[in-house]
Amino acid sequence: MQQQNQYLKKVYVQTWGCQMNVADTERMLAHLGTCNYKPTDEVNEADFILLNTCHIREKARHKLVSRLGELKPLKEKNPDVILAIAGCVAQAESEALAKEVPFVDMIIGPDQIEQLPSLLEEVVRKHEASKGIVDSFHNSFSPFVLTKFDGKEKGYSIPIDVVPPFYDEIKNEVSRYVNIIKGCNNFCTFCVVPYTRGREKSRLQEEILQEVNHLVSKGVKEIILLGQNVNSYGLDLIGATDIHSSGGKMPFSDLLYEVSNVQGVERIRFTTSNPHDFTPTLAKAFEDLPKVTNSFHLAVQSGSDRILDRMNRQYTRNEYLERVGWIRKVRPQIAFSTDIIVGFPGESQQDFEDTLSLVEEMKYAFIYAFKYSIRKGTPATRFHDQVPEEIKDKRLQLLLDVQKKETLKQNLAEIGSVREVLILYKNRKEEDSWYGRTNEGRLVKVQTSMPCIGFTLSVKIEDANLIALVGRVCQ
Ligand code: SAH
Ligand code: SF4
Ligand code: F3S
Repeated sequence: MQQQNQYLKKVYVQTWGCQMNVADTERMLAHLGTCNYKPTDEVNEADFILLNTCHIREKARHKLVSRLGELKPLKEKNPDVILAIAGCVAQAESEALAKEVPFVDMIIGPDQIEQLPSLLEEVVRKHEASKGIVDSFHNSFSPFVLTKFDGKEKGYSIPIDVVPPFYDEIKNEVSRYVNIIKGCNNFCTFCVVPYTRGREKSRLQEEILQEVNHLVSKGVKEIILLGQNVNSYGLDLIGATDIHSSGGKMPFSDLLYEVSNVQGVERIRFTTSNPHDFTPTLAKAFEDLPKVTNSFHLAVQSGSDRILDRMNRQYTRNEYLERVGWIRKVRPQIAFSTDIIVGFPGESQQDFEDTLSLVEEMKYAFIYAFKYSIRKGTPATRFHDQVPEEIKDKRLQLLLDVQKKETLKQNLAEIGSVREVLILYKNRKEEDSWYGRTNEGRLVKVQTSMPCIGFTLSVKIEDANLIALVGRVCQ
């Protein structure tokens, strides 16, 4: 009986943004599990609605505002439902949100995750206390706001023993994110992350390895090391200000060797990595460690030196290409991917053409491309030569068209090859069909009657389109 009553409450979570936010949501769910909240996909049956938000572009913020508009009637109908905003919009705009959407109960930042159960308790208490005075939807209370950064000088810790019984149900067992560093010190002129996530703070290596061991013991095969700038992992712990003044040390590369030594780890990926903090030591790790996959996401942002300088990326086009060359030398088949911003203030037609030519030269496996979005509080807001929206639209489309052709070409070239595919999940739409990834990160639909999640299978590629390869298990 006790088992049935164990989950008294339900939490509905919606997550926007990067992998960091996805990982944060998982941590929040784990903490909520310790106080009897179980996740639900059905917003109407939730006792607690949690929106984990992204602030990176204006569009991301719009999504939050329109979702809140949809949720307002539900909250009016049932004032006992607790509604919370977490993540980067909460961090950046808590005061504005508290005024704009006063029916929200709680606004918390990314550093409040561990406190979530106690904060929630406080809000429930506030709800209870308000009953009988005024109904809690139309009350005079404003949202509970807490967005303080943790204030520690260095390092941070994520307790890994918070594992409620449903933890395994909500996880993708094969591939898991492991946070290694939070925050960013780079201050690219377009970016909100240093303001929404604070300064770089690395987790202790022992703690990361403990988590990796724990995950492997649960059947995880692929570890994705996560940070806004993983290359500067550990510099704060050794008292270096940046990678170029660390006396030749690169704790991130050391970490790759250590994770590689963990038995049961089959693949290691990492994201994201700033080309500025890239040293030959990292290329050496690629040479030495076969578990590090044959894929590399290295955001370039622009192919024009003038724009890179205005973005404060701290590398030139040639330096980027040189660093790519170090990796390609030791891993000729490696699949690169990147992020690009079009229409950054002052971007001329020539600057944009430099980006196009870089993309053509790089032959990326895929790219994420975005129109520059003006972000309050960032230095680029002050640049006067903003690019008109229609030009941004055109440039984005052109760039995406160029890359689509390249991606399709590369995928079609896979036909006839045999690839080692790590099977990640079942294809819900077809029987005996699964999805996995090649070592280069290409998505493969695999046909086999054998249950195979978590296995690495040799797959003969028989077909391909823009999105995925299609193959059959080799007999
Ligand atoms: N830390 C990563 C980037 C994280 S943000 C890195 O430096 O590589 C993810 C991507 O969002 C960025 O690479 C950039 O391409 C895009 N982005 C960030 N701010 C943006 C803005 N103001 N407008 C448009 N795109 C933006
Ligand atoms: Fe943003 Fe630049 Fe930091 Fe990446 S490196 S998170 S783009 S400030
Ligand atoms: Fe968005 Fe915050 Fe990630 S702004 S991209 S969720 S760090």
